[in-house]
Amino acid sequence: MKHFKRTTITTALPYANGPVHIGHLAGVYVPADIYARYLRLKGEEVIMIGGSDEHGVPITIKAKNEGITPQDVVDRYHAIIKKSFEDFGITFDIYSRTTSETHRKTASEYFKKLYEKGEFIEKTSEQYYDQEAQQFLADRYITGTCPHCKNEHAYGDQCEACGTSISPLDLINPKSALTGSTPVLKETKHWYLPLDKHEAWLREWILNDHKEWKPNVYGQCKSWIDLGLQPRAVTRDLDWGVAVPVPGAEGKVLYVWFDAPIGYISNTIELLPDTWETWWKDPETRLVHFIGKDNIVFHCIMFPAMLKADGSYILPENVPANEFLNLEGDKISTSKNWAVWLHEYLQDFPGKQDVLRYVLTANAPETKDNDFTWKDFQARNNNELVAIFGNFVNRALVLTHKYFAGKVPAAGELTDYDRETLQEFVNVKGEMEKLLENYRFRDALKEAMNLARIGNKYLADTEPWKLAKTDMARVAAIMNFSLQITANLAIAFEPFLPFTSAKLRKTLTMPSFNWSDLGSIAILPNEHPLQQPELLFEKIEDDVVAAQVQKLLDTKKANELNNYKAPAVRETITFDDFTKLDIRVGTVKSCQKVPKADKLLEFTIDDGLGGRTIVSGIAAHYKPEDLLGKQVCFIANLAPRTLKGITSEGMILSAENADGRLAVITPLSEVLPGSEVK
Ligand code: MF3
Ligand code: ZN
Repeated sequence: MKHFKRTTITTALPYANGPVHIGHLAGVYVPADIYARYLRLKGEEVIMIGGSDEHGVPITIKAKNEGITPQDVVDRYHAIIKKSFEDFGITFDIYSRTTSETHRKTASEYFKKLYEKGEFIEKTSEQYYDQEAQQFLADRYITGTCPHCKNEHAYGDQCEACGTSISPLDLINPKSALTGSTPVLKETKHWYLPLDKHEAWLREWILNDHKEWKPNVYGQCKSWIDLGLQPRAVTRDLDWGVAVPVPGAEGKVLYVWFDAPIGYISNTIELLPDTWETWWKDPETRLVHFIGKDNIVFHCIMFPAMLKADGSYILPENVPANEFLNLEGDKISTSKNWAVWLHEYLQDFPGKQDVLRYVLTANAPETKDNDFTWKDFQARNNNELVAIFGNFVNRALVLTHKYFAGKVPAAGELTDYDRETLQEFVNVKGEMEKLLENYRFRDALKEAMNLARIGNKYLADTEPWKLAKTDMARVAAIMNFSLQITANLAIAFEPFLPFTSAKLRKTLTMPSFNWSDLGSIAILPNEHPLQQPELLFEKIEDDVVAAQVQKLLDTKKANELNNYKAPAVRETITFDDFTKLDIRVGTVKSCQKVPKADKLLEFTIDDGLGGRTIVSGIAAHYKPEDLLGKQVCFIANLAPRTLKGITSEGMILSAENADGRLAVITPLSEVLPGSEVK
């Protein structure tokens, strides 16, 4: 593996149009933070760069909807996002924003240099223009009918009903989202980065020189390159962004995907105005981009082409993009509020940052999409953090306080069993390094957890509390060994669970940490003083988890309400048509499942005329006992039908919910069986 002198870590700049959620944390910021902490712990030179992405059309749409300025929007969310990251211990060296003056200047100069070097091509094309609003329309600002599925509410860039990405020119019956008017086509000039001209070296650099990239990243790059790269516009007609700094570009700004990655450089300049170039231009610097899978093409193709076009920059050494984290089986969505927001998590689980960091790493979407569920969250907390890690550490410390007055007792001769146990973790350092350096954080965390498992088993097997009456020297040796494992845990978990590691370090009176000590059983000297243990983890009860699940169910319900469109009213009928229907109220006398028919219930109804049998397809919605004795409405003069050999004399009326759930109709107050509904 190539040796580097220092590492520049970048993390995708989140759009400042909403708070950050568990998907952000799992996909980008926790892995980046683990990597940064690990390298620092090893004594390497590292910077970790973050910031908010504050330009782009979605922010202008949000501002318009709320009747505020785009700057108001980004000011609000930048503050919330920055605080969430601080709260979760994400150790950015800088967290800035793309509306900073440094960024405006850097991005503007970056464009200008490429422009002057002749790296762009200029092209005039026809784009939709809103004559009423007197402006060109971003793809997102145009709605119309999808040419593929005929959904009438498709956007100019994509149809959310069928998932196809579309061009605004393909929309049927386009309308401006600004004024509702029909836009007209008008010529406009833009600058394009000719990715086709970069294709040859990109192919060589990625497909040949970076075969070690994660399969999901490599595969996506390969399919883009194999499709053939096209010139990509790097400017837009918009009034929110970095102005295009060349003559004849009034009313145009840099495309957000040109401007945002330059934010990594601007933020480094803001952090290190004198030495930033070392971190971006020295070939002995390792540049690593942490991102989610939707950002791969921008970081593996577009941004490298921009860096190459400038000519003075290094290229990324790796882009360890993650797949997506889903939530309880559904895609996380900011607009649908289907998310666990970080600031809300901390209100509900104060002090439990590490529990979430643990669960999100143990279940990280490193190779495929994964699902976050509250049940799994609870299980990992209770069965792993509490039962293994917390339990071991607590026993080791409590027993030492009990038998040795809180001082590390003398190590003894290792027994065969001790040696066997040691064998199980002497290689932990090498194993963890290999995994961490290959961005396999889940497996690295498993190694750390395995250390706690080994400790737990060691105490359970050696049972020092039973030897306390007979062999204090052996008890001392056992406790020494256990405390050394505890010190190992403090080191091994630092990148993953920094709050827990800090507590442990305080309890163990370990002022400095040494990654190279990992795997050693001589970290704590004899007589080394210990503090009283702090509780590392606590059990999470069922009702707490149930409340979180309920919160999500409420969100689902609210979304259904917001999205429900009642079906259009059917053809008009006459009063005579209506009176042909004989609707009655009856009382359910008996109700049972129809054998071999999942959906059917068989009813006996008191209809005031001696009773009748009705078979109804509502078994998925009601249990027989739910309806017994209840009054229902039914059509009394429907021609009888035979279902599963039973003759059904009528039909029970239900209302159908948007999701297909049925609710049986019942009169508001009790009436005599056989009463007519009019
Ligand atoms: N804002 C983008 C997103 O959330 C990420 C931008 S990453 C950067 O998908 F490279 F542009 F900075
Ligand atoms: Zn469609």
